[in-house]
Amino acid sequence: MELLGQGREAEVFLRPDGAVLKLLRPGFPETGLHRELAAMRALAGHDGLVPRPVGIVTTRDRPGLVMERIPGADLLSTLARSPWRLHSAGPLMAAVHARVHAVSAPAALPDLRAELDGRIRAAAGLPDRLRSFALSTLDGLPDGDRLCHGDLHLGNILDRGNSPVVIDWGNAARGDPVGDVARTLVLHRHASPPPGSPLVMRVLAPPLRNDIVHRYLRAYRRLGRVSVPTLRRWEIVHTAARLSERIEAECSSLLRRLEAALARADRAERSGHLGRASTHG
Ligand SMILES: Nc1ncnc2c1ncn2[C@@H]1O[C@H](COP(=O)(O)OP(=O)(O)O)[C@@H](O)[C@H]1O
Ligand SMILES: [Mg+2]
Repeated sequence: MELLGQGREAEVFLRPDGAVLKLLRPGFPETGLHRELAAMRALAGHDGLVPRPVGIVTTRDRPGLVMERIPGADLLSTLARSPWRLHSAGPLMAAVHARVHAVSAPAALPDLRAELDGRIRAAAGLPDRLRSFALSTLDGLPDGDRLCHGDLHLGNILDRGNSPVVIDWGNAARGDPVGDVARTLVLHRHASPPPGSPLVMRVLAPPLRNDIVHRYLRAYRRLGRVSVPTLRRWEIVHTAARLSERIEAECSSLLRRLEAALARADRAERSGHLGRASTHG
């Protein structure tokens, strides 16, 4: 079978029958595939926003998900070849994300807050006070019933003749859409390009990344309601949870960001106390 792509958890093959097989690497749990299937089924019939799912199979003793093949490249590679599209990438990702969030999540998907709680507790190298900060921040965040992708970035949007198709639903969950927007922001802010991909590195040079993220957020806010303080809290939570993915190259910037957020929260609390003291005194 021809190898179409690969990531940390899976290899993606083109089967002789023309379908795509996303085959898990040995040792990765099958649960992610069931999440992908549930999310893709929930979106089937939404104007081709996802590849048509076929089902879960076992090949070479490994579980895999069979789905429709999308012929076009992902948005990240497209940007590398057509940098003039930079302006439209953020708004396009926002439009896609808002369409996902319009859908109520199937019951089979886990709750986003519970999921993040588990990841923060499992995060490696997170000092206790940052872990407690992240967990207490999570405590105050809302539940929700929307379909959340959990990993939406430019590399997970393919092109089917000028209409976007979202892949890679293994982190799909049910929750507050603002939480899912925060994950996209955190991914683009910290994402370390995979080794050996100079094009990707150039495309996602930090100033370009910031520009894309800025346009993405501005466009999303025209389509869906976003409370900025809530968004900032979700970002703290996702920054801590990202450490559970053990991506060496990102650790120090994630930790720096958390330290800064904690310092800001401490300052805000102190000035709140002072403010109250002066009002009452
Ligand atoms: N339905 C599909 N049609 C065409 N290519 C696909 C499809 N699904 C995945 N791919 C290719 O495989 C790559 C990895 O798939 P993805 O689901 O994003 O896995 P990972 O979780 O490893 O990132 C994609 O970037 C894309 O190149
Ligand atoms: Mg992917």
